[in-house]
Amino acid sequence: MRIVTAKDYDQMSRKASYIVASRVILNPKCVLGLATGDTPKGLYNELVRLFRAGDVDFSGVTTFNLDEYAGLSPENPQSYHSYMEEHLFRHINIPPEHRHIPNGAAQNIGAECRRYEELIEQAHGIDLQILGLGRDGHIGFNEPDVKFEKGTHHVRLTQSTIEANARFFENRDEVPKSAISMGIKTIMSARRILLLASGPEKAEAIRGAVMGAVTPDLPASVLQLHPNATLIVDEAASAEIMRIK
Ligand code: GLP
Repeated sequence: MRIVTAKDYDQMSRKASYIVASRVILNPKCVLGLATGDTPKGLYNELVRLFRAGDVDFSGVTTFNLDEYAGLSPENPQSYHSYMEEHLFRHINIPPEHRHIPNGAAQNIGAECRRYEELIEQAHGIDLQILGLGRDGHIGFNEPDVKFEKGTHHVRLTQSTIEANARFFENRDEVPKSAISMGIKTIMSARRILLLASGPEKAEAIRGAVMGAVTPDLPASVLQLHPNATLIVDEAASAEIMRIK
């Protein structure tokens, strides 16, 4: 894994935006894998800025989001559909029919997972997958487990993730208990991976992801096996690996 350090969150976001923008400039029809959470918000702001400056055109780009809460309709303000609309889609020119996010309101979740995997296949896979990192080392919603889940699947969220995500909801009871997420095989099949981490609460997970054993107990550790993975980490999140180095 290539490790790029950044001074702080803003610099991490800018460096990430240059990597994403360069992919789109070099391959205007590229397929991007997108993440949600607080971490990529700065990256999305920077991409909007580059778009407004006329430096990047997203009209040929296709996107696939990592995950969505089960039981939330796309219109729900807490859904990842709404998040993407607010932070990226409504500000840039990716055609609506090129944007894909699992449908959390699907009646048949299993069928929705299969449909999503097929869509990714039809698009010939993901060129660049952006990832954030859960405090427990999860990527997408692949929670610590005894095995790596392969394709897009229905996942039960851990208590730690429910608590971490409660900040986005009015109260804890409203946080969905399960989600649809790309699996580890889906993520590892992306041709390039860009993992972002910022803040002291990610330092422990970063240490495990970068220097620990590859184990489904810390899902991000599997990225050590990816041939083209880049981590951009700010000073606070890299504290543990810098101490050991
Ligand atoms: C959620 C998302 C992940 C994200 C994680 C970390 O669980 N499903 O994709 O990486 O939160 O979020 P944050 O960036 O807010 O710390």
